[in-house]
Amino acid sequence: MAKEIIVVRGNNTLSGTVEVAGAKNSALKLIAAAILARGRCVIHNVPIISDIEVMSEVLEVLGAEVQRDGKGYDDHTLIVDTTEVDSYETPYELVSKMRASISVLGPLIGRFGRAFVAMPGGCQIGARKIDMHLRGLESLGVEFSIDHGYLMADAPNGLKGAHVVLDFPSVGATENLMMAAVVAEGTTIMANAAREPEIVDLANMLNAMGACISDAGSSIITIKGVPLESMHACEHTTVGDRIEAGTFLAGGALTGGPLTVKGISPEYLRMAIEKLREMGCTVEESVDSVTVSRTEPLRPVEIQTLPHPGFPTDLQAQFMLLAACAKGTSVITENVFENRFMFAAELARMGAEIVIEDHHAIVRGGRKLQGAPVSSTDLRAGAALVLAGIVAEGETRIHKIGHIDRGYENYVGKLCSLGADVSRELPYRNHRGTVRVSSEA
Ligand code: UD1
Repeated sequence: MAKEIIVVRGNNTLSGTVEVAGAKNSALKLIAAAILARGRCVIHNVPIISDIEVMSEVLEVLGAEVQRDGKGYDDHTLIVDTTEVDSYETPYELVSKMRASISVLGPLIGRFGRAFVAMPGGCQIGARKIDMHLRGLESLGVEFSIDHGYLMADAPNGLKGAHVVLDFPSVGATENLMMAAVVAEGTTIMANAAREPEIVDLANMLNAMGACISDAGSSIITIKGVPLESMHACEHTTVGDRIEAGTFLAGGALTGGPLTVKGISPEYLRMAIEKLREMGCTVEESVDSVTVSRTEPLRPVEIQTLPHPGFPTDLQAQFMLLAACAKGTSVITENVFENRFMFAAELARMGAEIVIEDHHAIVRGGRKLQGAPVSSTDLRAGAALVLAGIVAEGETRIHKIGHIDRGYENYVGKLCSLGADVSRELPYRNHRGTVRVSSEA
């Protein structure tokens, strides 16, 4: 079967209201957290995306039962029953599909005192090491060894609370450490912790399961360990996806809007909203929605990606697109991931003028983009390319859209509801109208 592509007919605008799904980056960890209690966790507002399918498979391989749409809930509710979880091994086939599978490490060590998890490979957006995860867990008494590509973790004397300082506020390391520390003996104080809203969401679910975590969302998190036996299943609703929201807001800013995203607190998007205003947009906020509109030309901007509450690296590509359409020169600095400028080369195929110097992108904006065949280089770049196609002249055909399906629920449908002319199609047809199968088939 030929792989689908997304086809966008350009010179278009986006306006109206769109509801964001639950946050991918939160839901993945909430599912992993369910391992820490024997029982049936009910997690609401879980997006329907392929990364969640992979995480569900990871849990199933461990012995859990994962069910969507059960017992009268809607299909955004996931029931994760961990009663029968009896394995602590996560195979390469799943970890290599999705790096976030590594987030079962902390909960498995918490539940079994050990874990056997395939090492995640490199990643297209930089080296993405896990040294901070390991150092943090070592402070709690975990010993690691590598065996034929697998990471073997063992806490021979049980988990012991400790003072840990992370070198960098890594999201994944903060989460893994938090999920092990909740059942350690004694108190863990984690300094330089990540402050993302998804960390707060995870702490809230863990607390609802019986954990005792305070100050999640600040850079010093305190975790008083509780006995594993006192952890119990819970019901929890996933926080809204601020990156999906930011992506649609970028689309509204690009085409003028007005475009409203619902299901998100503007507080989670503070820096992105500031940058939209700097670029000449009007942004209105309510408790759980944000509206963007623009009547003036886009202005150039300086952006530095940083851990939350700084500008999110996951919105860098979308804002690079805005910079490419602004009149003047913008500078975008990527501080979180190395190699996260692959998107620039694809946007250049559409006529953008971008020079990469080390971790800075100098974007000389103002040229009209032209529709072209392009490829998603990662999840966020893929979403941004579709937005680029909406304002470009002519037709844009986006390949490798599996990246987009990893993290955006019904992206094409939502864009169509906002007025875009976008569809999923088979790769290409010859002049007789027959579908020709691509080499990727
Ligand atoms: C998570 C998000 C991702 C987002 C990123 C930063 C998920 C599934 N993914 O990724 O979408 O872009 O946060 O907001 O939630 N690092 C190390 N050693 C470590 C851990 C990280 O050197 O042990 C480095 C990474 O290579 C990277 C930086 O720290 O350069 C940030 O990584 P981290 O915050 O851990 O991101 P993830 O949790 O992988």
